[in-house]
Parts: sequence; C-alpha cells; structure tokens
Amino acid sequence: MAREKLNRRGFFRITAGVLFAGFLGLWGKIVNKEIEYTKHNIIRLPFDKSRKITFTGDFIIVNDKDNLNVYSSHCTHLGCVIKNIENGKFVCPCHGSEYSLSGKPLKGPAVKPLKKYDFELDKAHGKIVVKG
Ligand code: FES
Repeated sequence: MAREKLNRRGFFRITAGVLFAGFLGLWGKIVNKEIEYTKHNIIRLPFDKSRKITFTGDFIIVNDKDNLNVYSSHCTHLGCVIKNIENGKFVCPCHGSEYSLSGKPLKGPAVKPLKKYDFELDKAHGKIVVKG
C-alpha cells in the first residue's frame, strides 16, 4: 500500500515536472518572440534607443550616454539569467553576484565579466544585429 502511494506520488511529481518544463519552454518562446534568430548565428534584437537598459532573452543591451553595448544575460558563476538592476548594478537572482553596467564583476561569487558581444546597429529597422 505504501509503495503504491509512493508510486502514485512519484507519477504526479514527474507529470507536474514535465508540465512545468513545457510551460517554461513555451514561456521562453513567448518572451523571446521579438528576437529573430537567423542562419549563421546572427541574432537580431529589438532596439529602443530611449531605454538605457533592455533585458531581452539571453542579452542585456546597455545604452549609456552614446555608448551602446550588448552583454550576455547569463551570470558567469553558474549561468543564471540576470533580469534585474538594483542601485545601478546588475544583480544575479541565484547567488547574488553583482556586475557593473560595463559587465565587470563587483561582488561574487562570480569572478569573470559578463560576455560582451560584437554587434552592428541596423538603424533602418531599429534592430541590433549580434553575431552569436
Ligand atoms: S549563478 Fe549568478 S551568482 Fe551564482
């Protein structure tokens, strides 16, 4: 009897896990729908020049005083996605690493800077073109 309950409980846990993973996958597609992935690892990101910081999927766009940069949103500690800025710093939600707006680590556990991407600005279409 106890084994049967455990199996049923395990089944529900696995089912809930699969449904949750599916939801996360679908949510990721919804959130990233403005990002265009093309052949040859070229990624086109939406660019709103009126915004200083834009978090968009795997990228953070920093538009600070005519200085435009694109960084990975993945923390260099264990890869969590950074989606938040506090007191002028990027803050990782997992273990609290902090980065400057230029991607330099300010507080650990991360010790490496955020990955910086080369890009071109497509002004005609309002896009940033990143070579991934
Ligand atoms: S993954 Fe960001 S601090 Fe650990």
